[in-house]
Amino acid sequence: MATTHAHKTTPADITAAVVASFEQCTNPRLRELMQSLIRHLHAFAVEVSLTEEEWREMIAVLTATGDITDERRQEFILWSDALGLSMLVDSLAHELPAGATESTVLGPFYVSGSPLREYGESMVVESGAGVPALVYGRVLDVSGAPIADAELDVWQNGADMLYAVQRPEAPEEHLRGRYLTRQDGKYAFIAVRPVPYPIPDDGPVGRMLSATGRHPWRPAHIHMIVRAPGYKTVTTHVFDAASEYLDSDTVFAVKPSLLRTFVERSPDDPARPAGVDGEWVSLENDIVLASGDDGGAVVDPGRTA
Ligand code: BEZ
Ligand code: FE
Repeated sequence: MATTHAHKTTPADITAAVVASFEQCTNPRLRELMQSLIRHLHAFAVEVSLTEEEWREMIAVLTATGDITDERRQEFILWSDALGLSMLVDSLAHELPAGATESTVLGPFYVSGSPLREYGESMVVESGAGVPALVYGRVLDVSGAPIADAELDVWQNGADMLYAVQRPEAPEEHLRGRYLTRQDGKYAFIAVRPVPYPIPDDGPVGRMLSATGRHPWRPAHIHMIVRAPGYKTVTTHVFDAASEYLDSDTVFAVKPSLLRTFVERSPDDPARPAGVDGEWVSLENDIVLASGDDGGAVVDPGRTA
């Protein structure tokens, strides 16, 4: 029979009991993760005096996130992106020496196995994809020496704001390609000027953004993963320095060092690349790789749209 003078169970007692339940966990890292998660999760509930109705709403949001997630749509990673967790984990994982090109989010539209293209080749497969852009530069080490045979794995959206992988009717190899640097470290390819676009906002993440007065837009950028033997792989973007939303990227992925200027060029410019007609732009972007093993290699999370 319970004693009448028993201590009244408090929220702190509940937290302590759950933390203690992981004491016997033999994996020390798992124990640390679980105990810290419990402390922070419980502190959150206490701090905001989480109501039962709000708890039910949280469960509904998680359920909707699971429901909309499949092999093409990864809403859990989108939450991580929109809450800044992806950028935080990325920055904890990649401590780079001064001068090395900074990393940023991978995003959901990366598809591995892009076609290997020649120096200077266009990755624009469909016409009407946007203003042609000559993108060029060098891949260097932190001392400024060129890196030969580095691979740039590139993907971007077109003037319709979409990545080819978002349009089932689009040619698969449109606006993506892999390029190798020459012996002098130089690379070049023809792309189009990217445009700002909204992240997929027809699911729970989009509902959170609109309920909280946030917008779903990302500033214009081209994605690149740059790899070379003996160097750390970098997953990064080059941002259009003239784009809207640089100050309010919905996934917090803008780093000032990644902004570059697209230079507007005229049709009669002698440097106009073969196959480019009318107005065009050029973009110079050197990439600097840190030496080391391949700690930053992309694990394709298998999300494509
Ligand atoms: C992207 O840049 O492709 C992207 C990144 C995070 C979320 C959605 C899209
Ligand atoms: Fe993107």
